[in-house]
Amino acid sequence: MARALALLLLFTTAAHAADEAAAARKRWEDSPYGPMLERILPPGFEPAMLPQPASRGAQLMQRYCVQCHNLPNPAMHHAQKWPAVFERMVVRMQGRGNMGKLMSEMMAGVTAPGPEEARVLAGYLRSNAQKPLDAKKIPEVNAPSGEPFRVACSQCHVLPDPQRHTAGEWPAVVARMQKNMEWMNRVVGSQPARGEPQLRVEDINAFLARYARKSY
Ligand code: HEC
Ligand code: HEC
Repeated sequence: MARALALLLLFTTAAHAADEAAAARKRWEDSPYGPMLERILPPGFEPAMLPQPASRGAQLMQRYCVQCHNLPNPAMHHAQKWPAVFERMVVRMQGRGNMGKLMSEMMAGVTAPGPEEARVLAGYLRSNAQKPLDAKKIPEVNAPSGEPFRVACSQCHVLPDPQRHTAGEWPAVVARMQKNMEWMNRVVGSQPARGEPQLRVEDINAFLARYARKSY
């Protein structure tokens, strides 16, 4: 009985969180800045894809981090990078951030985490962060053959450790990153910049495969 009640409570809370997220999304999507906010982070990273989706950290991400843009993936940044990004977001949620007019117009419904929630969130981001590539172990990253990867994959986050995925898994991740680039780099309504370096997908996948996690 107690267990059934606890389960019911869990589902109700989850449903409530989903309602809140949907309401927040509608707010920023419908705002005059919707098209800009939509491009800040790519779509497609769903709540169920968060590590330990039932944990408090994951719950707080779904509550606070969808209020202005799509849900961020904690694996996007490495542990050292997150605190500064997180702090910038908290300041904004508190209504003290840059992009003043834009944010204050949207601020009406935005809530900020309290100190304890902020600690949980920061810890969650840190412990599920990206692991950076170690150039001492992979000096080829600084050689000409490492250039296509080095240039393309350091634009939005630190260069990822190739050991994160197997050679079989990497091409799908790289293909998704190509979509992320199209999504995030394009100012709405404009053409892709001329002279933008072409993504050398084959070279990038070959580089990653050389250092990828073995799949046995
Ligand atoms: C009050 C609005 C607001 C909320 C809430 C918010 N963000 Fe942001 N976020 C922004 C804006 C505006 C940008 C684009 C400008 C920038 O990068 O600072 C952004 C950009 C980002 C980026 C991409 C830029 C980068 O440095 O990689 C990440 C990642 C991010 N936010 C993570 C988060 C996380 C994690 C949370 C929840 C703890 C969060 N955001 C909550 C407004 C918000
Ligand atoms: C335009 C910005 C951008 C560029 C450039 C970029 N990424 Fe990402 N990357 C993201 C975003 C946003 C996320 C989080 C959302 C996601 O996972 O799609 C991410 C997450 C990741 C992750 C963690 C998630 C996972 O599935 O393991 C890896 C690894 C990664 N990127 C590798 C790469 C590689 C390799 C390249 C170069 C081909 C690259 N990224 C280029 C934006 C970018």
